[in-house]
Amino acid sequence: MIALTVFNHAGGAGKTSLTRDVGYELARSGLRTLLIDLDPQANLTGWLGVTGVTRPSTVYPVAVEGLPLPGPLRVHGLDLIPAHVSLALAEGQMMGRVGAQSRLHRALQDVREHYDVALIDSPPSLGQLAILGALAADRMIVPVPTRQKGLDALPGLQEAFGEYREVRPDLTVAVYVPTFYDARRLHDREVLADLQAHLSPLATPVPQREAVWLDSTAQGAPVGVYAPGSPVHRDIIAVTRDIAREVGLPFEVRA
Ligand SMILES: Nc1ncnc2c1ncn2[C@@H]1O[C@H](COP(=O)(O)OP(=O)(O)OP(=O)(O)O)[C@@H](O)[C@H]1O
Ligand SMILES: [Mg+2]
Repeated sequence: MIALTVFNHAGGAGKTSLTRDVGYELARSGLRTLLIDLDPQANLTGWLGVTGVTRPSTVYPVAVEGLPLPGPLRVHGLDLIPAHVSLALAEGQMMGRVGAQSRLHRALQDVREHYDVALIDSPPSLGQLAILGALAADRMIVPVPTRQKGLDALPGLQEAFGEYREVRPDLTVAVYVPTFYDARRLHDREVLADLQAHLSPLATPVPQREAVWLDSTAQGAPVGVYAPGSPVHRDIIAVTRDIAREVGLPFEVRA
């Protein structure tokens, strides 16, 4: 199993969308896939159509009590450790407890034989839950919007990764993923050129396309379920292929 954490402390970078849809495509190709929602906003959970989550089924008992991972939910061919707004309480509980931030990393060791890949969706912060996710990763996937705010987040990201490497010296970024790319806009083209000059490896940009992304979240289904064969679905397959190649996962698209 390889653990991949989708990370950017900046909000609205495309973390949750990538986690859900790349996760779904990896599972559809036959890989045993675990998704973990580390964000008390619980977007990943909701956008997979899951409701009625209680705190014991989230990573809360792992982070706060050092317990093993709870049994996952099964949804759209994926295993999911969901989130709930009360997961936010873990932030305070973890503070000042030596080793708490490494507990998800340890808990994942127990399920290594059960999965080919674990994808972890981070909250938009550099708080305790974000650190928990980062330290659990074998590699990081970093979505970066092709906007000024994408560039503005990079120095803070590098600083945070430097700190995480004090605990996990082997932690590397597998791939940066340009998101919300609008090729008609000069600004986006300039930012993409900047990313290409400074970040490596860089995935194929994920184009900005409104309707299907928004509708699929409202429907609680991955794009591959909600709109198979759509342009957005093709975008997702392209970025999944890039990510799989960078992390050495076999990915074969099934029609
Ligand atoms: N390529 C795209 N084109 C248009 N809209 C998109 C695209 N990708 C994601 N979205 C939409 O943009 C919004 C933000 O994306 P998302 O929630 O995945 O980002 P995030 O980094 O997880 O945000 P947060 O920091 O709040 O967790 C969502 O409403 C999502 O449906
Ligand atoms: Mg999110």
